[in-house]
Amino acid sequence: MVVSLSPNPSYPQPVNGNQSHPLPEEASQFIKLNQKYLVPDRAAGFALFRYIPARKRFVLFKNEGEPIRADQLETLTHEGRQPVFVPVAHASALTFYLSENLVDLVNDPSIPIEVKVEEVNTLALAVMKNLFDSPPDMREFIATAANVSRSITILLLSQPVAMNLLNRLRSYDYYTYSHSLNVCVMGMGLFLRLHPRATPSQVEDLTRGLLLHDIGKCDIPRELTNKPGRLTEAEWQIMRSHPVKGYERLEHDETLSPDSHLIALYHHEAMDGSGYPEGIRRGSIPLTSRLCKVVDVYDALTSNRSYKQRMTPFDALVLMTRDMKTQIDQDLMKEFILFLDHMGKLTVRKPL
Ligand SMILES: [Fe+2]
Ligand SMILES: [Fe+2]
Repeated sequence: MVVSLSPNPSYPQPVNGNQSHPLPEEASQFIKLNQKYLVPDRAAGFALFRYIPARKRFVLFKNEGEPIRADQLETLTHEGRQPVFVPVAHASALTFYLSENLVDLVNDPSIPIEVKVEEVNTLALAVMKNLFDSPPDMREFIATAANVSRSITILLLSQPVAMNLLNRLRSYDYYTYSHSLNVCVMGMGLFLRLHPRATPSQVEDLTRGLLLHDIGKCDIPRELTNKPGRLTEAEWQIMRSHPVKGYERLEHDETLSPDSHLIALYHHEAMDGSGYPEGIRRGSIPLTSRLCKVVDVYDALTSNRSYKQRMTPFDALVLMTRDMKTQIDQDLMKEFILFLDHMGKLTVRKPL
């Protein structure tokens, strides 16, 4: 099973051999986890191990399903900042647990905004990467994604400047998980510009729909989603099935609104009817799907792909308002340009 790597070395990584104490063969069966992500007395569906260098062995510290007690955590802290280890087989339980950390993090008033944004970005990326790399069952996938979208909603509604800070940390490498996060954050910004009085639950529902808009790519062979180079026509046909596959994954979930399900289904439709899967036009395409398309195309154009370098924001906006004029909702484009302009002008004010 493949488990995510994160650019942040403090985030859980599969164990490798580059350590002061060489790890035994079985190390590949564990994910290294920084102790700082452990919260006392919270249900944790994964087992926890410590590595004892003198014995060259992993030793069970806590059973699967048990919370980690405060006194156990204290013992670990006393031993210094040693990593702990989670079996690879428990990766999805760990991913869910970390997504709960995100909600705590954004609700903690003692953490400075810059630190909060950086942690949210790192954790949200890692959680999304794990979700797409090893999808758990649908209920767990949506529950985990719900924690990510809830924490982003709380963060951005309470401190709008976080939008600008998050954008500075944006990943420019195009992967489904980082693209999903970019679409979620920018899409929420555009939605708030259109509906400044939207309730937190409306915003959260939309951000969750945006975060999951490409969930159908879980059903597309990895060789296609990661293919270096352009797809053949036959491969495109398969790729173009992801909106329907995504909708089929979401449609029976009652925690999401029907409107959010339709984001997955219609985010590749075009105003002039040239899109897919149904080729519907203009007002027949729900507003939230048209909004998703604007942000989706912008993120794809301004991210590096295996077969082309990313465009500058200016060139991407020119292409979207000129060459793609009949496909993209131009009223939304105007608002999106104003949103990007406004975001660029936001600055962080240091407390006096
Ligand atoms: Fe898509
Ligand atoms: Fe997308």
